[in-house]
Amino acid sequence: MIIKSSSEIECMRQSALLVSRTLTEVAGVLRPGITTLWLDQMIGTFIRDNGAIPSFLNYHGYPYNSCLSVNDVVVHGFPTKQELKEGDIISVDVGVYYQGWHGDHAYCFAIGDPGAEVMQLIKVTKESLYLGIEKAVAGNRVGDISFAIQSHTEKKYGYGVVRELVGHGLGRDLHEDPQVPNYGKRGTGPKLKEGLVLAIEPMINLGKKEVYTASDGWTVRTKDGKPSVHFEHDVCVQKDRADVLSDYRAIEAAEKANTNLFTA
Ligand code: MF3
Ligand code: CO
Repeated sequence: MIIKSSSEIECMRQSALLVSRTLTEVAGVLRPGITTLWLDQMIGTFIRDNGAIPSFLNYHGYPYNSCLSVNDVVVHGFPTKQELKEGDIISVDVGVYYQGWHGDHAYCFAIGDPGAEVMQLIKVTKESLYLGIEKAVAGNRVGDISFAIQSHTEKKYGYGVVRELVGHGLGRDLHEDPQVPNYGKRGTGPKLKEGLVLAIEPMINLGKKEVYTASDGWTVRTKDGKPSVHFEHDVCVQKDRADVLSDYRAIEAAEKANTNLFTA
């Protein structure tokens, strides 16, 4: 695993914050009737206008600027011409390559009211992300993060924790070591060191944990067709604390101000 210096971490913070600003733009425009293809174009334009390149575009052949995962799509959803409608949830995952460093994170929005059960899934998935982040301190192990996420979602609420996809190290490459599963045992896995940057990203299903990849080779869906939620933060491991490089505050403010959106 690659350890970053403090000046490199400040560069990575700028990349992470550009993703946060992109997601804030998204929070401002989401409403029923827009297509995710239009949203993806907006995301690509915003990233390029800010001097960066969308990290996901052409990554192992991924054909769009962003991943826009609606309802039963877990992650890696393709933008489409389908209009968003009241009661949809959408996980918006954005990556930017800015001055040599990647930022990569995600936020889940509710367009109108998806119902109490799904609003709780959104709330609990976000909570689990922060419980995982709390464990991202030097001397802990990756399994401490994994266990915290799994305990809050699977053990406490009976949700399905996706096994096939995991969080990861982040830096000059979009995916670096170590892998960060959302399930696991305390005190196991690689030891966390100061200056390690992780993308922690719970992917949590309302129903069962099983998923499949669609025939397009990318779109991951739940097998039972029930909704799934994805949140992701970029986090730097420090001595007695986790330093969250990305920032949800402006996203959450824009979400609250947008009357088309329900807030968990
Ligand atoms: N946040 C996702 C990840 O870390 C997004 C990758 S999408 C891809 O894996 F298209 F770039 F693969
Ligand atoms: Co990621």
